[in-house]
Amino acid sequence: MTHRIAVIPGDGIGKEVMPEGLRALEAAASRFGIALELAHFDFASCDYYAEHGKMLPDDWFETLKDFDAILYGAVGWPATVPDHVSLWGSLLQFRRRFDQYINLRPCRLLPGIKSPLADRKPGDIDFYVVRENTEGEYSSVGGKMFEGTEREVVIQETVMTRHGTDRVLKFAYELAASRPRKKLTSATKSNGIAITMPWWDERVAEMGKRYPDVTVDQFHIDILTANFVMHPDWFDVVVASNLFGDILSDLGPACTGTIGVAPSANINPEGTFPSLFEPVHGSAPDIAGKGIANPIGQIWSGAMMLEHLGHKEASDAIVSAFEAVLAEGDRSVLTPDVGGSGTTESLGRAIAARLES
Ligand code: NAI
Ligand code: MG
Repeated sequence: MTHRIAVIPGDGIGKEVMPEGLRALEAAASRFGIALELAHFDFASCDYYAEHGKMLPDDWFETLKDFDAILYGAVGWPATVPDHVSLWGSLLQFRRRFDQYINLRPCRLLPGIKSPLADRKPGDIDFYVVRENTEGEYSSVGGKMFEGTEREVVIQETVMTRHGTDRVLKFAYELAASRPRKKLTSATKSNGIAITMPWWDERVAEMGKRYPDVTVDQFHIDILTANFVMHPDWFDVVVASNLFGDILSDLGPACTGTIGVAPSANINPEGTFPSLFEPVHGSAPDIAGKGIANPIGQIWSGAMMLEHLGHKEASDAIVSAFEAVLAEGDRSVLTPDVGGSGTTESLGRAIAARLES
């Protein structure tokens, strides 16, 4: 069976890290006998916008909907296109129209990378944040009245549905059940947000009945953020609504050092539509064109894609390969963000070479 992958590098360092993401992906595919068919697209980038006056072609949905997955670089070039235009015109369209209702981010402290948290070493931080990606606090229900007057009123409603909540909880429980610790933590705020969050807690408990092997705890979001910093070793899988998950999925990877290594997945678990895999970082205009961006976020995103496509062994091999290269600590190979003097390409080649050996 051949997996059809849409490859979209996007802007800035997205164009620099993507070749290294593909180098590792192809090395793993050839080692494990996985057939990949790659199709390259230049849309969903600000260069495309400059030429066409829009981020995506009109037929983008038809063009992409039958791919097995999308591997994305980064979007954004604020010097020429405002960020809300580039982001809403590309990535957010994919997330919505392809119903990628899971946003998944691993938070793992890697060898050779210094955590901003004192005295933490690899093994101390190893968990996932599962964020609801389609509803919740990010709704378009609401409005303004009496704008610009003393009576000005603004309202924006949180929308949580049983359908939307149960499906993210199910994904999180399944993920927890598949991991050795089998532990799920729910982000709540049922003391302050006294309608939706107690209901969220009820849905967590209800779904938990199906997963008796999974231990569940919950924290209010305020102390939960503190515990990410003070006790990151407590966590295995953390599930959260859209807003809480947005915060946690930046804080978690931040606790593990450089943004350049963090990957993410936007998943449609049923496979009705393609899922999208991308590094957490953006297009980094400050270092774009210098060839020094860390490619590991892109490479790890490719590994998550392989796991999603059913190739866990190949995915683990990619992760082991970059962990080994980081642990070796050859400064001439590593990129500057992790203390090296090497380039995007030198680090990418070293990781691919590990995979081949
Ligand atoms: P950014 O993630 O692009 O950069 C933040 C800082 O981290 C910069 O100093 C950058 O040099 C550094 N950095 C990022 N990735 C790195 C890597 N792989 N290796 C080494 N250093 C790295 O975030 P920023 O500057 O806020 O946004 C720049 C553009 O990217 C904007 O247009 C923004 O909208 C867009 N963006 C896109 C995202 C996406 O495509 N999912 C996510 C975040 C931002
Ligand atoms: Mg965010």
